[in-house]
Amino acid sequence: MSMRKPFICGNWKMYKTVAEAVAFVDGVRALVAGVDDVEIGIGAPATALKSLADAAKGTNILIGGENCHWEKEGAFTGEIAPGMLVEAGCSFVIIGHSERRQYFGETNESCNRKAKAAIANGLSVILCCGETLEEREAGRTSAVVIDHVKNGLAGFSAGEMKSIVIAYEPVWAIGTGKVATPEQAQEVHSVIRKLLAEMFGQAVADATRIQYGGSVKPENVKEIMAQPDVDGALVGGASLKPDSFAKLVNYGI
Ligand code: PGA
Repeated sequence: MSMRKPFICGNWKMYKTVAEAVAFVDGVRALVAGVDDVEIGIGAPATALKSLADAAKGTNILIGGENCHWEKEGAFTGEIAPGMLVEAGCSFVIIGHSERRQYFGETNESCNRKAKAAIANGLSVILCCGETLEEREAGRTSAVVIDHVKNGLAGFSAGEMKSIVIAYEPVWAIGTGKVATPEQAQEVHSVIRKLLAEMFGQAVADATRIQYGGSVKPENVKEIMAQPDVDGALVGGASLKPDSFAKLVNYGI
């Protein structure tokens, strides 16, 4: 048995108003009540975080941001500091999602600074990595994922790794309906775990959760979660409706 507690997390991206976010919690609360063998999270737009966290108080649902800055405060128009996420009720933040890398100039270096600052502020971090279709077809999957994880975690201590979750999200599988096969996911997850062992030692590698993301839905979550190195899922589209989200969380039954 793995010592890693599975972590099923929604990534709402740029979906849901405050009212819709609160209604979601009302809809899902009873469906996931009593689940204590799976960690449950929702990454949501900044405007909804405070209301969402308030609505989720007393439930087993954790709330997180989808991005943050590395500075505590300052002249950074449009940015949000890690401490602001904490104040809004967040316990984690998603860093380095491929959409942020692709559309908003996120780099390994900025991810590294953001993840460091987030952890220093008491947040957990879901650090995302993953190859494009072009990179996969060029046989560069492992190299790309290693580059993302190695540089994203540069300078981290073994102690800080307690607050890190890795999400492997092949870009070609995100929002496309093309899910990686369980074997493809497992192959890359084991590459990541090997890298973590080299960087931080086997104990840290064994304790760190690695989520898969990319077109996970109730119909395929079970077979993906059955892989030995898959410890959770980061889910976009299928996390937006309470019944679908609850089915993902309850994949084991
Ligand atoms: P998807 O998105 O589940 O809609 O493919 C996953 C993600 O981008 O985290």
